[in-house]
Amino acid sequence: MNRQEKIKQLIDYRQKARLGGGEKRIDKQHEQGKFTARERIEMLLDEGSFEEMDMFVTHRCTDFGMQDKKFLGDGVVTGHGTIDGRVVYVYAQDFTVFGGSLSETYAKKICKVMDQAMKVGAPIIGINDSGGARIQEGVNSLAGYADIFQRNIMASGVVPQISAIFGPCAGGAVYSPALTDVVIMSDKTSYMFVTGPKVTKTVTGEDITIEDLGGANVHSTRSGVSHFRADDEEEGLLLIRKVLEYMPQNNLEDPPITPCTDPIDRINDELNEIIPENPNHPYDVKDIIYTIVDREEFLEFHRHYAKNIVVGFAKFNGRPVGIVANQPNFLAGVLDIDASRKAARFVRMCDAFNIPIVTLVDVPGFLPGSAQEYGGIIIHGAKLLFAYGEATVPKITITLRKSYGGAHDVMSSKQLRGDFNYAWPSAEIAVMGPKGAIEILEGRQIREIKDTQERKEFIKKKEDEYVHNFANPYQAAKYGYIDDVIEPRNTRFRIIRALQTLATKKDTNPPKKHSNLPL
Ligand code: HXC
Repeated sequence: MNRQEKIKQLIDYRQKARLGGGEKRIDKQHEQGKFTARERIEMLLDEGSFEEMDMFVTHRCTDFGMQDKKFLGDGVVTGHGTIDGRVVYVYAQDFTVFGGSLSETYAKKICKVMDQAMKVGAPIIGINDSGGARIQEGVNSLAGYADIFQRNIMASGVVPQISAIFGPCAGGAVYSPALTDVVIMSDKTSYMFVTGPKVTKTVTGEDITIEDLGGANVHSTRSGVSHFRADDEEEGLLLIRKVLEYMPQNNLEDPPITPCTDPIDRINDELNEIIPENPNHPYDVKDIIYTIVDREEFLEFHRHYAKNIVVGFAKFNGRPVGIVANQPNFLAGVLDIDASRKAARFVRMCDAFNIPIVTLVDVPGFLPGSAQEYGGIIIHGAKLLFAYGEATVPKITITLRKSYGGAHDVMSSKQLRGDFNYAWPSAEIAVMGPKGAIEILEGRQIREIKDTQERKEFIKKKEDEYVHNFANPYQAAKYGYIDDVIEPRNTRFRIIRALQTLATKKDTNPPKKHSNLPL
């Protein structure tokens, strides 16, 4: 072979590799409304930035006649590129090759990019579309998965890890995405489950479709496994880029600050009117979030799951923050098991990646009842408490309205090392609401009043007194648990100034192997 022939051979090999499992299978992928692994990577990364690695890898299996069935790349496309000019590592499972199933060499390819991402300190993005363990490879495939899991675990809290699910992701394979920071599922074309419908039917008798068992809808509304449900792959890929806009490259860096054109001293008079006069009336906390953040941009995580708490990324003066807000519009903003888990995971992610946390509080308390107690609200509520108490990033808390009882302590209170704890004049910070308090404190007197009208009036008078004396921000401010009571319309400016002041904040936890988070 002369020099020219050698170059032609290289070009031919590359072309062959780029065809994955061949045109027929690519067509089938497209017919199902799915893109191929390489198309997905092209759409995800900055134009022309992708450099593929291990394009010539093939499997080493000889069982089931596999020695005669080889595809360059072996079913996964790996490499690196940039997103908004910042380096990322990526792997995309190629369903056109053995259904994207995972072999020993395939796993090694993924591990290689994960290892390099850790050395470089760059995010890892995994695009999943796979029939799971390559059956022909047996235990080598299982070992390959476990090698990836181990790396997911080591990379957790070191570099951002994002998983997109654009096809099947079943069996043990689900545990790699589950170990990552963000899971995005494409609607109708993806599913995740530990055990599929067939086995479910055999073992339990339950008849259920793939979509109802593990579709994007289920995981973004009921299980919370998926942070985002994307209408299609394009939206899913765009979401990956958006999430990374708020995240640092690794845990030793701060999130990127971008120029901000939205005035920092913007006054929002409408906020002075936003809390209803009647404390039992709801309002949408997202209206407040959109009003105070830069350019009304809020990237909400878990939008359809545990809607009584709202979490997501936003910016103040170009500085990324994580926002956690009770949502009075849904279940009165009460804290329950799902809301506690959702917010705790978000707070920990922010803390791991040096993203300051802004908490907006309007919480009547924890949801009462046997379902919650049997479900372990004690342990799940403790997760959120733990997450806030452990977090060392700047923590700014604004109490908008209710902040009662244990939920007050949990929601980034001063004693959990809150840096700036502000309250609106509408805040009610107390052990419990007026109704509950008067029932307990005045119970005997109430029972002694026989006349119904008289009893009602007595209760009303006592409740009014309680509201006046205790359901306000000034009791807490009197003791310094609230640093300042602020006018709602100035909230944006006060948060921005607090974030600037705290930009050099340093706080640590005692040295330890790791905490014993109440899991
Ligand atoms: C090897 C596989 C494969 C697998 C699919 N293929 N899954 N090859 N190992 N796990 C191949 C098929 O033989 C076929 O090859 C091609 O991929 C496309 O598959 P189809 O069945 O034609 O596609 P489709 O009808 O779209 O169905 C997709 C599917 C189905 C639902 C994913 O293929 C399927 O059920 N696969 C098996 C899933 C599974 O049970 N995996 C093991 C789970 S256990 P050709 O040559 O015809 O194109 C597991 C354990 C992980 O994953 C443990 C980690 C700890």
